Amino acid sequence: MAISTEGRSDITILPSVSHPLDPLSAEEISAASSIVKTQRQLGPRVRFETIVLLEPPKDTVLNFHPGDSIRRNAFIVILDNDVQSTYEAVVSLDEERVLSWQHIPGVQPRVMFDEFAECEAAVQAHPEFQAALRKRGINDPRLVMVDPWSAGDYGFDEEKGRRLVLARCFVRSSATDNGYARPLEGVTAVVDLNTMEVVRIDDYGLVPLPPTDGNYAAEFVGEFRNDLKPLEITQPEGPSFQVDGQYVTWQKWHMRIGFTPREGLVIYTVGYEGQGRVRPVLYRAALSDMVVPYGDPSKDHYRKNAFDAGEYGIGSLTNSLSLGCDCLGEIHYFDALVNSGRGDPFTIPNAVCMHEEDYGILWKHSDWRTGQTEVRRSRRLVVSSIATVGNYEYGFFWYFYQDGTIQMEIKLTGIVNTAAVPAGETPQYGTLVAPQLNAHIHQHFFNFRLDMSVDGESNSVYEVNTVAEPPGQDNPHGNAFYAKATPLKSELEAQRIIDPMSGRYWLVSSASTKNALGQPVAYKLMPGENILPFAHPDASVIKRAGFMTKHLWVTPYDPDEITATGKYPNQHPGGAGLPEYTKNDRNVENTDVVLWYTVGYHHVPRPEDWPISPVAYCGFHLKPVGFFDTNPVLDVPPSTHHNGACHS
Ligand code: CO
Repeated sequence: MAISTEGRSDITILPSVSHPLDPLSAEEISAASSIVKTQRQLGPRVRFETIVLLEPPKDTVLNFHPGDSIRRNAFIVILDNDVQSTYEAVVSLDEERVLSWQHIPGVQPRVMFDEFAECEAAVQAHPEFQAALRKRGINDPRLVMVDPWSAGDYGFDEEKGRRLVLARCFVRSSATDNGYARPLEGVTAVVDLNTMEVVRIDDYGLVPLPPTDGNYAAEFVGEFRNDLKPLEITQPEGPSFQVDGQYVTWQKWHMRIGFTPREGLVIYTVGYEGQGRVRPVLYRAALSDMVVPYGDPSKDHYRKNAFDAGEYGIGSLTNSLSLGCDCLGEIHYFDALVNSGRGDPFTIPNAVCMHEEDYGILWKHSDWRTGQTEVRRSRRLVVSSIATVGNYEYGFFWYFYQDGTIQMEIKLTGIVNTAAVPAGETPQYGTLVAPQLNAHIHQHFFNFRLDMSVDGESNSVYEVNTVAEPPGQDNPHGNAFYAKATPLKSELEAQRIIDPMSGRYWLVSSASTKNALGQPVAYKLMPGENILPFAHPDASVIKRAGFMTKHLWVTPYDPDEITATGKYPNQHPGGAGLPEYTKNDRNVENTDVVLWYTVGYHHVPRPEDWPISPVAYCGFHLKPVGFFDTNPVLDVPPSTHHNGACHS
């Protein structure tokens, strides 16, 4: 849904901009692109990869008071197809001028949404591709779904400097058929996105289309189970949160909601009320990048991996959510404003869903002597968004709990990527999910950048392992064990992996503030289910996504270090991002630290994942440790329910 910008020439800062971190408005996106187009005399063949708020310095944000004047700058990335070059610009929206303009040599911006459709049309129309289709008995190229996958970097000379995608194709039997049931095996179109030309058609030989449909849509299901009774979520007095623009308060939590086309949902300035102030926890939290490496070594599949944020812009692929389907209850939606490839504002209505959920019991105790029972119900605030990247869906759910806990839960669903195999063949690097249909083994690695500010900007990080005391004088009975905290003083010391058998977690503690017990106030990062990659250290995907080789990385705050894979991961040869940021082994003690946590989800596909995968979950928690002096939720009132109060 593009917003018309026809006839708009005046540039004014909208009254809706009330805070320096407010995302760019539609008017600001239009103004930014029109200023740069005019002042740099850009031709019609430029594409806008990015038009986002250039976030102001942290000092400006932290010292901001309502009513202070706000300076608005836009950061822009432009691809000029004519000269096949990438440029970065900073535009002052207040001064209506381009503050900086820079050619960035040797990089490829993300594959943009417009390019998806243009690439599909180019492949469908190509005579050699149509000949490959006819060889396979397919006469209508419009039934072929063309999914462009970044070509990555595999060191081929003829690919250097070209903006290439490999088009993986699937065949629908009708307009609404699930095409992933019928991969067009053996045929890959290589497309240059700068010229939108099919460079070549790789035809590795004929494999028949799998025989069965894989439809899941209601129109195909026929009969539904009929034993579900209504389950209504009602909040007769409305939700307990307050929203003022992008600013949210919910009980003692305070935060701002942001959004970028690359990262999707961004949560800023998270704090929890106490001691008569809002105590900061996080300055900024977002997905920083992700990658899905696949494990099939065959010639048309070894290049299969997807950096869904860095290569495709997971934010710009975010869904519009609908009430009662994606989210249940009293919902507040935030729209997201992103830029189109032509530099126009593009609204994703209802991109972010916020609501409250009952989350079972918060705490309970029954005293058997007195018969007295105290129970409290737990409630959480959910801030979420869901993106569709090709065949897959990713949901990103931030949960804020009453006891100060923050959780990131990733929900993985959608359709597994498929390949066809000859009848009778059992695939080694995948699972047969339907006759002659192979779902390749793969992993999903997500990296979250967590700019911590635990009760202030100066923090230190400790690794806590539980160790068994060796038998001896201190452990005469052999039962002794204790939690041992080790400071992680520098970036290289702080590159760590999980160790579930030692109960390993990482503590981010304030360098200056102590609780009533004299302990430093802290939050811990608690890993959940996790894994490491199986790709060989020399594999292209490992070089390009070095972040996935460690679960924890810590860096000192640098506003230019926002993504785990660097600014331009698309077709990057490797080494950028976290491996590069950390190579000088900077100090991370008593400073403004940024945690980067990698979550790996291991996916050995099951037949039950076909034709659509039930949601799988992974993620992590941030939990207060001595941040409070005692249990912070004693003041949650007992719920009053039909049969009386929840205490006796
Ligand atoms: Co998967």
